[in-house]
Amino acid sequence: MTFDLVIRGGTVVSATSTGVCDIGVRDGRIAELGSGLAGGTREIDARGRLVLPGGVDSHCHIEQLSSFGVPCADDFYSATVSAAFGGTTTVIPFCAQHRGDALPTVLADYHERARSKAVIDYGFHLIVANPDEQTVSTDLPAAIAGGIRSFKIFMTYDRMRLADEQILEVMAAARRAGALVMVHAENHGMISWLAGRMVKAGNTAPRYHAICHTRGAEAEAINRVIALAELVDCPILIVHVSTPEGIEAIRQARGRGLKVMGETCPQYLFLTAQDIDRPGVQGAMFCCSPPPRDAAAQEACWQGMRDGSLRVYSSDHAPYRMDASGKLPNGEKTTFKEMANGVPGLELRLPLLFTFGYRAGRISLEEFVALTATRHAETYGLAARKGVIAPGADADIALWDPDRRVTVTPGLIHDNTGYTPYEGRELTGWPVTVISRGEVIVHEGRLDAARGRGRFLVREASEALRPQGRQVPEMAQLAAWNTPFSP
Ligand code: URP
Ligand code: ZN
Ligand code: ZN
Repeated sequence: MTFDLVIRGGTVVSATSTGVCDIGVRDGRIAELGSGLAGGTREIDARGRLVLPGGVDSHCHIEQLSSFGVPCADDFYSATVSAAFGGTTTVIPFCAQHRGDALPTVLADYHERARSKAVIDYGFHLIVANPDEQTVSTDLPAAIAGGIRSFKIFMTYDRMRLADEQILEVMAAARRAGALVMVHAENHGMISWLAGRMVKAGNTAPRYHAICHTRGAEAEAINRVIALAELVDCPILIVHVSTPEGIEAIRQARGRGLKVMGETCPQYLFLTAQDIDRPGVQGAMFCCSPPPRDAAAQEACWQGMRDGSLRVYSSDHAPYRMDASGKLPNGEKTTFKEMANGVPGLELRLPLLFTFGYRAGRISLEEFVALTATRHAETYGLAARKGVIAPGADADIALWDPDRRVTVTPGLIHDNTGYTPYEGRELTGWPVTVISRGEVIVHEGRLDAARGRGRFLVREASEALRPQGRQVPEMAQLAAWNTPFSP
């Protein structure tokens, strides 16, 4: 039987090995790997190309309102087009429950928005800001049954943060039904106390954002949430980790055998707090939470990625325009406290890591694949379907020209933000052909993907979610809620 598509002679990379072979694709899936495969209806000569799994970006904000109610600049079309141009073929953005929102309404709304616009496949995480009885006992289990296997909770932001008791409630619900709890870990009291005093003293420029989101706030919250997770034996993943102290806390917890995972993002590897220190409000372009730190923190992130303390590398794409609709509600007078937090990064996530990670000798090609694709799929219930080039998996593949030189300009990027924090960077290596479920959706800078072709991914229970069954003695009295979930 022939193939619909054969990708011939490329250097195929997985999270564990690299070798030259052909890839035969049938009905949108990888049917066979080998050399000298039979002909395909379409053939791609991949000699001289690196053939990598399409990226999986498990942390991005699309068509979402910030905690202040500021809308993202990107909808599901612009965001997924931008992702595709950067070699990413799966995204897992957030459905955001704000206080007072009912989860079923929130979910139906996001499904509706994505269905008609996404050009690549997508799943959803749920942001839980209102863990009342209805949400915890009925709506979260229903969401999990509908294929949403991960929740994000916040320890900061006035309108999103949960108290420790609420965090435990969400963790217990996640544990019972088999979902991963993702945590935005920063100590709210430390940040808001500092910020209140800074503003009173007239220190309102963007640079004070980085000062108020002090490193100790991240370390304290990570340590606290690890203790909460240990109490209820719930696997957790700390998102957007930025400090050596935070990474060390994760490393220590993992060393004690706890299922604690970490994530970092381009802004913690390629930006520092100095980028925020620009005249006027220009530094707002680089304001995200936690903020970029310094060279030593960047080094700690590289080390964390190499030793597995930081399991995944995601964009945390949070696109807000540099005008009154986005980061600058009061124009030049906007204080750092009023700026929407977040930076864009969907499209450059992979090329930045390729250049400054792989090509610079900081990580291997296999680590690049693990950090950008395979581990995301394994962690979030998409193992063997996404993030790998193997028989049976969806044919989501990016062909990279490892020597293509690209200078970053805002005009290069396909999102709606209008700027990029990485303007002027010189990159080497670019995804020139991007394939989603066997269809070439990007080739040499041209898009060929219909709006709405992306499909919602029902995610499965996974090994990463299995509690360890390590009961702290105090919990023995609470047998009913401690019933282990088994994938
Ligand atoms: O600053 C950030 N990271 N903004 C996006 C929202 C979030 O906390 O992930
Ligand atoms: Zn966050
Ligand atoms: Zn985020």
